[in-house]
Amino acid sequence: MKNPMSKPTPVIFNNNVLRDGHQSLAATRMSTEQMLPVCQDLDDCGFGSLETWGGATIDSGLRFLGEFPFDRLDALKKACPKTPHMMLLRGQNIVQYAHFPDDVVTRFIELSAKHGMNIFRIFDALNDPRNMEVAIQAAKKAGAQAHGTICYTSSPVHTVEKFIELGQRLEAMGADAIVIKDMAGLIPPFRAKLIVEGLKKSIKIPVWIHTHETAGLGAPTYLAAIDAGVDAVDLGVTPFANGTGQPDTVRMLAMMEDHPRRPEWSQENYDRLSRVRAHLEGVYKELGGFTSHKNEVVDSDALLYQVPGGMLSNFRTQLKEQKMEDRFDDVFKEIPVVREALGWIPLVTPTSQIVGMQAFLNVKFGRWKQISPQAADIALGYYGTTPAPVNKEVQALAAKQAGKDPITCRPVEAPGSNHTHMEDLKKQLAEKGLPDDDEHAVIYAMFAPQLEKFYAMKNEGKDPAAEARKEIAAKAQAAAAPASAAPLVEASTPGKAMRFDLTVDGQKHAVLVEEPA
Ligand code: CO
Repeated sequence: MKNPMSKPTPVIFNNNVLRDGHQSLAATRMSTEQMLPVCQDLDDCGFGSLETWGGATIDSGLRFLGEFPFDRLDALKKACPKTPHMMLLRGQNIVQYAHFPDDVVTRFIELSAKHGMNIFRIFDALNDPRNMEVAIQAAKKAGAQAHGTICYTSSPVHTVEKFIELGQRLEAMGADAIVIKDMAGLIPPFRAKLIVEGLKKSIKIPVWIHTHETAGLGAPTYLAAIDAGVDAVDLGVTPFANGTGQPDTVRMLAMMEDHPRRPEWSQENYDRLSRVRAHLEGVYKELGGFTSHKNEVVDSDALLYQVPGGMLSNFRTQLKEQKMEDRFDDVFKEIPVVREALGWIPLVTPTSQIVGMQAFLNVKFGRWKQISPQAADIALGYYGTTPAPVNKEVQALAAKQAGKDPITCRPVEAPGSNHTHMEDLKKQLAEKGLPDDDEHAVIYAMFAPQLEKFYAMKNEGKDPAAEARKEIAAKAQAAAAPASAAPLVEASTPGKAMRFDLTVDGQKHAVLVEEPA
C-alpha cells in the first residue's frame, strides 16, 4: 500500500505529435524533414515517450512522402536519443489491413526494435487477443515493451466489466502495460474513470489512456482518468493537437494546475514547447492542402452517431459522389444495425470503413442484398472473434455470397490466408532487382507496389522525397487560393483509400472508401 502521507505519483505525459498529431489533423503528411527541427526540444522535455512511428505513418511516408520507412525511424531515433520511442501496431496486420504470417510479424518487430523502437502499442480492430499474441511475444523477446491495447467502443455488449476482462487477458498474455485506445474520442469522463479504476484494482501492470478531442471530451476524460489512477496520457502540440487530435500539452498542464498528480514542468520546458509550436505552425501551413477546418473544431456529431469523426466527413463526401446525400441519416441509422449483426465490432481501421460501406449497401440495395467481401469476412470469422456472436442469418447469407465457410481458428491459420514468408519475400525482391535485406522484405510484404514505385523513381534518377515535396507545396497553394477557385463540393482530407470490389447485377465495381484519420 502507498504511504498516505507521500506525494501522489505524477501522471506521465507522452507526446504523440509526430505520429497521431499529423495523422489526425493533416492526413499523415508530416515529413521527416519537417519533424527534425523540433526533435531536440521534444526530447529535452522529459516526456514519458514520443510516438514517432507506426499507425498510418509507414504507409503514408512511403506512398506520399517518398521516404523509406526505416530511414525515418533511424533519423528520429538519432534526433531524439533520450526519450523512449513508441509506435502503434495493428497486431497481426502489422501496419496494414490484412493478416500476415507469424514470421513476418515477428521479424518486423525485431527490426523495429533493432532500429530503436522501445514501446509497441499493439491492438486488434476486433479486440481479439489471438491477433495480438504473436506481436506481444515478439516485442518482449526483442527487449522492448509490449503494450496490450484495448480499442474503446460503445455498444450494449461493451460493458465496463468486459473491458476489464480484456485487460486481464492481455496481462496474462504478458503485456507490460494496458492502453485504453479511444480512437474516436467517444469515451465520456466518468466511464473512463470506471474502466481505469476497475483495471487498476484487477491488474498489476500500468494503465495508460489514449483519446482524441474530436467531440470535446478528451482533456476532461484525461482528468477523470488521472483521478482514477491512470499512469500515462497521450498529448499533442498545437496546431497538431485538439480537434481530431490529442489535447495540447500546455492546455493539459493548465487544466492540472494545483492537481497533486501534475507533472513538474519547468520554464525551460514551456520555452521548448513554444519553440516546437512556432516551428509546427509553419509546417501546418505547408500542409495546408491536407488540413481541414472541420478537423480543428469540436464536433458533437461524432457522439450522436458514435463513429469516428473522420468517418463522418468521409461519408458525407462519398454519399455526395453517389448523389445520395439525402440518404445520410438513413445510412447512419443503419450503422448500429450492421454493427449488431456483425457482433458489435469496434469502429477502427479497417472495421470503420467496412461497417460504413455495408450500411451504405444496405440502404442502397436493401438489407443484406449485397454484402461486401470484407463484411462477409467479418461475419465468417476471417478477421477474428467478434465481441458478440454474429447474426446467424447474416452469417449464412455471407457464406453464400462469398462462397466460403465460417472459421473459428486464428485468422492467419485459415484456409486461403497469406503464406508469403520472409524467404519468399526476399526472393521476390532479389528477382526484381530491389534491395533484399529484411527491412525491405517486411515493407515489401505490406506495400509492394509503393516500394516498387519508390525504386522506379530512384532508378530514373529522381529523388522521391523531393518530388513529393513539390506536390504537397502545389496542394497547399491551391488550398490557399481565393474562394472563387474552390470546388463547390468540399473534398474530404485525402488519405489512404480502401478498395471494395463489389459485384452488382453481375457487373464488377471497384469502390474506394477513404480511411478516417
Ligand atoms: Co489516436
